[in-house]
Amino acid sequence: MAEQKKLLRALAGETQDVPPIWMMRQAGRYLPEYRATRAQAGDFLSLCYNPELAAEVTLQPIRRYGFDAAILFADILLIPQALGADLWFVTGEGPRLSTITSEADFAKLGPVSDIHETLNPIYETVRILSRELPSETTLIGFAGAPWTVATYMIAGRGTPDQGPAHALREENTALFEALLARITEATIEYLSMQIDAGAEVVKIFDSWAGSLKGEAFEKYALEPCRQITAALKERYPHIPVIGFPREAGDKYVGFAKATGIDCVALDNSVDPEWAAANVQVDGCVQGNLASRHMVTGGQDLIDETRRIVAAFKNGPHIFNLGHGITPDADPDNVQLMIDTVRNG
Ligand code: CP3
Repeated sequence: MAEQKKLLRALAGETQDVPPIWMMRQAGRYLPEYRATRAQAGDFLSLCYNPELAAEVTLQPIRRYGFDAAILFADILLIPQALGADLWFVTGEGPRLSTITSEADFAKLGPVSDIHETLNPIYETVRILSRELPSETTLIGFAGAPWTVATYMIAGRGTPDQGPAHALREENTALFEALLARITEATIEYLSMQIDAGAEVVKIFDSWAGSLKGEAFEKYALEPCRQITAALKERYPHIPVIGFPREAGDKYVGFAKATGIDCVALDNSVDPEWAAANVQVDGCVQGNLASRHMVTGGQDLIDETRRIVAAFKNGPHIFNLGHGITPDADPDNVQLMIDTVRNG
């Protein structure tokens, strides 16, 4: 049967007059209805683990804007927690985790087979969404890429330069690689369960891929993405995979072919005309409007949106931001972006 959903058509390689559109962090603090539901849940993690409320915040941007895709509401740091790391969020600052800097820290992590005990509520959220989403809306599941997840597990928090993770990688390569292997294995099982529950596409977020240079990029960004994709394709040949090696620069070229993913998500440091010529030649691309336009709006937002749509119009494209929408964004600017994409 021919595929009807716009997002799945783009992922299958179809060029469309109007690209499908969704937005990273589309369920988030810029929306008053999100803030209300989050307050009802108590805090961010309680919201992630409450299937009814997590499904509710996933649906909010679909109701408000009619995006072509919904992304499961959860977080990339639930995997470390499911493996036994402590995880909490400090309001206004971000995540905190127990750190992994020694073999003894690593030995405290649990086996991959135990992760579902913690993550079962997430699969329930996916099941609710696959029942409740409009028939034209595609449901995207996701996980963090092993390198990005490891940067938080090693440092115990977000870091500007991923320094502690780079230090461990150089000083204790065996431990670093064992950690990456554990996360890779857990991610395959986690994404498989999301697909079993009804996710139609999965996305792998490698937010810090750009800090891996040269051979380290191939080993720790490209190779884990290839392994996860290969394992998923073996189990679920028809489920498309989106990869997001953020700030990969020249390494975006050939990334889809080398990893087997169906679509590369582009950050906003990439010029769209360059990406059309060098990345979209291999298949679908997603991106790459700068998130700041959701704060500043106006003619700049319209011009830049039109430029991106025009640059990618001769191949498969999913319109999106280059990174997540920020809490200070104006919901009206999101509508302006959507109107510009859909009406020209
Ligand atoms: O996109 C979506 O709407 C789906 C849900 C989603 C969240 N986080 C919800 C969230 C997704 C796909 C993520 C991915 C994620 N989480 C990434 C990769 C993408 C990226 O942004 O680079 C990373 C690095 C994380 C880890 C994380 N989660 C950080 C560093 C923070 C704190 C920074 C911040 O924005 O507050 C979070 C918290 C988080 N994850 C929020 C949301 C909506 C804000 C929490 C709140 O409501 O207070």
